[in-house]
Amino acid sequence: MSAPTHTDRRLSVAIVGLGSIGGVAAGCLAVATRYHVIACTRRPVERLTLEQPDGTVALPLRAVTDPAQLEEPADWVLLCTKTYQTDSAAPWLARLCAPSTRIAVLQNGIGHVERIAPFAGGATVLPAIVYYNGERLAPDRVRLRQGSDRDIAVPDDDCGRAFAELFAGTPLRVALSDDFAALAWRKLLINAVANPITALTLQRQAVLRRPDVRELCLKILDEAVAVARAEGVRLTDDEPARALATLFTFSGELGTSMYFDRLAGRRLEVEALTGAIVAAGERHGIATPLNRALLTLLRVINDAAVA
Ligand SMILES: NC(=O)c1ccc[n+]([C@@H]2O[C@H](COP(=O)([O-])OP(=O)(O)OC[C@H]3O[C@@H](n4cnc5c(N)ncnc54)[C@H](OP(=O)(O)O)[C@@H]3O)[C@@H](O)[C@H]2O)c1
Repeated sequence: MSAPTHTDRRLSVAIVGLGSIGGVAAGCLAVATRYHVIACTRRPVERLTLEQPDGTVALPLRAVTDPAQLEEPADWVLLCTKTYQTDSAAPWLARLCAPSTRIAVLQNGIGHVERIAPFAGGATVLPAIVYYNGERLAPDRVRLRQGSDRDIAVPDDDCGRAFAELFAGTPLRVALSDDFAALAWRKLLINAVANPITALTLQRQAVLRRPDVRELCLKILDEAVAVARAEGVRLTDDEPARALATLFTFSGELGTSMYFDRLAGRRLEVEALTGAIVAAGERHGIATPLNRALLTLLRVINDAAVA
């Protein structure tokens, strides 16, 4: 990154992956104007238009397409690729990370720290749960929708508090959690039924309201909760019903990312969701036959995906 001068002590924030989530985060930080924001992208981008509840704003953006263009480590890195693209982001992280760097991982699933630590170069890894809806409308245009009372949740520790400070005064509301593992698993429960079922049936979320599908979802979630508890996560018996109740507050007309990815022939984020449940079950000797069946079918679809 270009070296800040002695009179310019702005924090540097690198966004790796300028897609739906990274584009919104980059736009919100750029609006704040108090950071050196740099986007690490695979294609050149010169500006970013952010559509947000308060209006649409067009922002100049510095983007680099080659890690060799980065001159020094960043204060913050926001890793915003899909989970299966993490390996391909390694050259960015190698240039951006020093022990003083903090990496916030804005990706679905669990195990963020374990996934990123091998690439982190001694930097501090902060797991994050994303609740906002981001949509990339074009390579240089993103839309923010806010359907929850928070947009991102992070652990309530020093790094999490610094992250919340980073976004203070921006449109993105960061919540601090003293039980981040439970939050991450609750989000995983929702994703672990909504995504596979809509992708496999090629139907939007209304399909979840069918009594037979609802029954299946509860059984899939019972398996996941048993695994989460074996991991030491504090989830209660009614978590499956609560997860479905949350899902039923959403319009049945909504799709899911996996549904849209399948329609577009893109690769599905299978391993970070259903795969994580099955893998954790294996670690603890807990059978997860329904999740395993979903995983097999989703892997078949993934093997045929074009992108
Ligand atoms: N979208 C949402 O509303 C939402 C909500 C909650 C959680 N999430 C989670 O957030 C994460 C990100 O999802 P997303 O929807 O933002 O995905 P996305 O729109 O596909 O964005 C991913 C971005 O990463 C870029 N990328 C991939 N590999 C790269 C590399 N090696 N170097 C530079 N850029 C790279 C992609 O570039 P190209 O454009 O070149 O492909 C793309 O712009 C996922 O784990 C997802 O499950 C998303």
